Amino acid sequence: MHSLPWTRVLRDSGTRSLLDLACGSGGFAAFLLPHLPECRKVVGIDGNEAALQQAREADWPCETEWRAGDAAALPFEEGSFDLVAIRNSLHHMADAAAVLAGALRVLRPGGLLLAQEMVSDGLEPSRQSHREMHHWWSAVDRLRGVCHHPTYSRQALRALLDGAGGECLYSVFHEPAGADPRGEKVHAFLEERITKTLQDLPEGEEWRALAEQVPALRRHLAEHGFRSATYLLQITRKA
Ligand SMILES: C[S@@+](CC[C@H](N)C(=O)[O-])C[C@H]1O[C@@H](n2cnc3c(N)ncnc32)[C@H](O)[C@@H]1O
Repeated sequence: MHSLPWTRVLRDSGTRSLLDLACGSGGFAAFLLPHLPECRKVVGIDGNEAALQQAREADWPCETEWRAGDAAALPFEEGSFDLVAIRNSLHHMADAAAVLAGALRVLRPGGLLLAQEMVSDGLEPSRQSHREMHHWWSAVDRLRGVCHHPTYSRQALRALLDGAGGECLYSVFHEPAGADPRGEKVHAFLEERITKTLQDLPEGEEWRALAEQVPALRRHLAEHGFRSATYLLQITRKA
């Protein structure tokens, strides 16, 4: 592993094609493109048509294609892309190791896999708020039948990414600066989402148990504020 900043690793990579796995509305591709001066084509794949439509309607500095599909069954030839990226989505996958194997398959030899994923441990209290909120929402999703796991521990995430193979070029845990942890705007946003989720919960014992967790969540938020959880950013080069 070398000590270049990740932005430099990307800029020097000569990437002309980017595949954004579980791209949502394309936020990660938009974040990465300024660091990829030679990129000419972005393909995004996601299971959520509404998010893909938002990506289609955005302005992009190069050719883009936003496809409905499953990140675990990539419809691309081996070696199709220079860079495959995935942000905060590995914990949404039923088999994240299989998704990473697919990502490596569609990379050209020497191509890069970039994963950014928030972690669940070693967080100071305001960042624990993010984990607690996330874990509650992921439990709501699971009860609704949507695949959404708690986030990974640092060790489990490193093991997952290292297990994908290739040479690790960069692997650093970042603590995003973000907005004021006690800012009114972020707390109003979270409260609105909690209230809306609670209103939509069906009747039943399991749902009631989730609703009963909310006062403790609100107390944690009020006491410690809210900041985004620490994330791992890791770049791997395919042999
Ligand atoms: C937390 S969002 C992250 C979106 C985007 N990567 C970002 O960082 O802005 C997780 C995304 O994973 C997508 N997703 C979940 N399972 C998927 C699957 N098996 N195949 C493709 N997309 C999937 C969801 O639709 C959602 O857009």
